[in-house]
Amino acid sequence: MITGCGDPLEQGHCFCQTCSTFHMKRSKFDKVVRRFDFGDAIFESNLHHVRGASGFSSRSTAEEVTHGVDGTGLTAIVTGASSGIGVETARVLALCGVHVVMAVRNTSSGAKVKEDIVKQVPGAKLDVMELDLSSMESVRKFVSEYKSAGLPLNLLINNAGIMACPFMLSKDNIELQFATNHVGHFLLTKLLLDTMKNTSRESKREGRIVNVSSEAHRYSYPEGVRFDKINDKSSYSSIRAYGQSKLCNVLHANELAKQLKEDGVNITANSLHPGAIMTNLWGYFNSYLAGAVGAVAKYMVKSVPQGAATTCYVALNPQVAGVTGEYFTDSNIAKPLPLVKDSELAKKVWDFSTKLTDSQSGESSS
Ligand SMILES: NC(=O)c1ccc[n+]([C@@H]2O[C@H](COP(=O)([O-])OP(=O)(O)OC[C@H]3O[C@@H](n4cnc5c(N)ncnc54)[C@H](OP(=O)(O)O)[C@@H]3O)[C@@H](O)[C@H]2O)c1
Repeated sequence: MITGCGDPLEQGHCFCQTCSTFHMKRSKFDKVVRRFDFGDAIFESNLHHVRGASGFSSRSTAEEVTHGVDGTGLTAIVTGASSGIGVETARVLALCGVHVVMAVRNTSSGAKVKEDIVKQVPGAKLDVMELDLSSMESVRKFVSEYKSAGLPLNLLINNAGIMACPFMLSKDNIELQFATNHVGHFLLTKLLLDTMKNTSRESKREGRIVNVSSEAHRYSYPEGVRFDKINDKSSYSSIRAYGQSKLCNVLHANELAKQLKEDGVNITANSLHPGAIMTNLWGYFNSYLAGAVGAVAKYMVKSVPQGAATTCYVALNPQVAGVTGEYFTDSNIAKPLPLVKDSELAKKVWDFSTKLTDSQSGESSS
């Protein structure tokens, strides 16, 4: 064993909730690091810089994949634009002429980021608005203020996220990763859909919804989504709960794409894996992991400009026009876990999330 607090490991866990360290044998640890968000495809493509059908690779940056794209007249919401790839996404969209609304939980860090972007992109059109995705009340307040401002909405980038935190409940009593990464974005999208539909109809331009998921969607709990055990602390795995929330990001985009297509609405919905990028997201992992990642970083890890590329590609590149219900990595269509093609599961997640969000508002879910 590497280290230990004396607690036996729960099956499927590598991260000890008691002493916050990795207890597993070195070989197993390496295997987990390699599997978790560092899939073979990413490793290979980073190593060889393979260009996919789009002409882009894991090494392409957000500026490269949007080169020559004119986003003037478009309005976007980017959640989590106060840190990591959300900041670069906001900067590059603004560079393309998009009016970006930075939806952040900490408005003073948001204002600081905005100031930095404006220094780099004079004339950038950016607004900062408060949004805490772990609180349905905050999501509803954000949407109400957005609508009161009379803003159109062409692009919704569901980017914010947390990873592998210890078991916690949100303000609405929902396991925090599921609440923040999935439920908050589900409600946000649902409440903004009429604005997006009006905008696409009036502007005659395609709307795009982009869910920033992760390769970690492959490593959810064995049963996929634990509808009956979302809040079960005794069997909680911080990593599997992250995987579950990211699986729901893909299923949400797929079900949304299906419904929008059936309704003949000019809005697409896709999901993506941005790559492995050393951002604040990794804060819940200990320094041992940071050291291990550092050692292999030059082969496996993307820079932040590379990490924001797939999001900006899916949001703005003309190659993606009309493409919906797909999963992207490295600015190319990729194959997600076969389970995400299960339309019954996608519908079940949709209904479950609708019930959760309706019950909080006192609405009926029927
Ligand atoms: N980095 C990677 O290796 C990687 C790999 C796969 C997928 N992803 C996905 O990429 C997305 C962005 O991650 P990142 O790497 O850029 O991480 P990051 O630097 O930690 O940024 C996450 C952003 O989400 C915001 N956020 C967290 N909880 C929130 C809440 N309750 N309400 C509103 N905003 C909240 C954070 O706000 P604060 O600044 O206030 O904390 C921050 O702006 C995430 O969805 C993540 O799952 C990342």
